Amino acid sequence: ASSAQASHGGPGPVVIAHRGASAYAPENTLAAVDKAAELGIDWVENDVQRTKDGELVVIHDDSLRRTTDVEEVFPGRAPWKVKDFTAAEIARLDAGSWFGAAYAGARVPTLEQYVARVERHRQKLLLEIKSPELYPGIERETLKVLGNEGWLDRRHVAGRLIVQSFSADSVRTVHELKPAVKTGLLGTPAVADLPAYAGFADQINPSHDSLSLGYVSAVQAFTGPHGRPMEVFAWTVDDAAGARLTAGYGVDGIITNRPDVVLAATRGQ
Ligand code: G3P
Ligand code: CA
Repeated sequence: ASSAQASHGGPGPVVIAHRGASAYAPENTLAAVDKAAELGIDWVENDVQRTKDGELVVIHDDSLRRTTDVEEVFPGRAPWKVKDFTAAEIARLDAGSWFGAAYAGARVPTLEQYVARVERHRQKLLLEIKSPELYPGIERETLKVLGNEGWLDRRHVAGRLIVQSFSADSVRTVHELKPAVKTGLLGTPAVADLPAYAGFADQINPSHDSLSLGYVSAVQAFTGPHGRPMEVFAWTVDDAAGARLTAGYGVDGIITNRPDVVLAATRGQ
């Protein structure tokens, strides 16, 4: 079993709540972290970006439009990019009403607030550095926040923290700045390119629909920067049949908006 499987304490892939338990609570909010905890899910995934004044915040899109009421609060500020708003402005936005009235008043969390909530639940964090090309230096800043929150101590880096990105440059930078931190490269790179990535990425994390048994075994045959077989966390699988199929490929983890469904479908395999 890989370290990820071992850390989950049972057979079957690790189950990671995508943007929190985002089928049941607004994505990337503290409520979605709480919901994952309530469902007994110990891993959460999030997306990190940066405000105009340099605060790291947890949100998926590079625009605030889809998941907040920014259009109403700041009507003249199209296209409402995260990077064009200050942290104080973003803190005024409602990031819950779009999802459902029960979540009215949920906020876009700062990374600091988010990590504190994950820690409070004793959960584990799969942190995605989103669109790093928009935010030069975000790798160092992300590690600084994690360090301030105690997440770069041995206990955390040894099994509770993975930093991932679609940008190989960003993943390499994280590895170079803090070699102890476990890292993941999002996407489905060609097998021929894996030896290069194995120098700085512990995981290759592909879309589930790009997977095969052969690809997963090819990745796992490489040794990552920490001397263990490279792992595969697949995204985003929300139904029982898809979860069983993906688990059958031998993946180490499944990233899902419905972690309860995937957990039920994959345990006992
Ligand atoms: O963690 C994998 C997944 O989150 C990558 O895609 O667009 O949901 O950030 P996206
Ligand atoms: Ca993500």
